[in-house]
Amino acid sequence: LASTDVELAPIAEGQAVTVMWRGKPIFVRHRTGAEITAARDVPPAQLPDPATDQSRVQKDQWLVVIGICTHLGCVPLGQKPTDPRGEYGGWFCPCHGSHYDTSGRIRKGPAPRNLDVPQYAFTSDTKIRIG
Ligand code: FES
Repeated sequence: LASTDVELAPIAEGQAVTVMWRGKPIFVRHRTGAEITAARDVPPAQLPDPATDQSRVQKDQWLVVIGICTHLGCVPLGQKPTDPRGEYGGWFCPCHGSHYDTSGRIRKGPAPRNLDVPQYAFTSDTKIRIG
């Protein structure tokens, strides 16, 4: 499929879903206020792959990233609140220990880049189309 529609209404705050798009897992996370604040409180210049949180989201509460570690391609953990999410509360890649923050940015470990943001658009207040 060239594009994938995701209904956001069922995803409660603090929850995330994984959908497949072009054979890749896409993480769609409904961020809490604390997660948004954590993502915005860090000066981008201090980051290994500098990017503002604002440049990575279209709506503050929704983070959409490709769920493939930019080191060697494992799928990071952190989709379920009970998963290990690493030291920055986003995702943790167990393969070699990369820690991603609540904006999907690499903070610690061998991954060279932030989790990629796929092309997507809001088709309504509660729906996105990826691709
Ligand atoms: Fe994720 Fe190596 S593949 S840390």
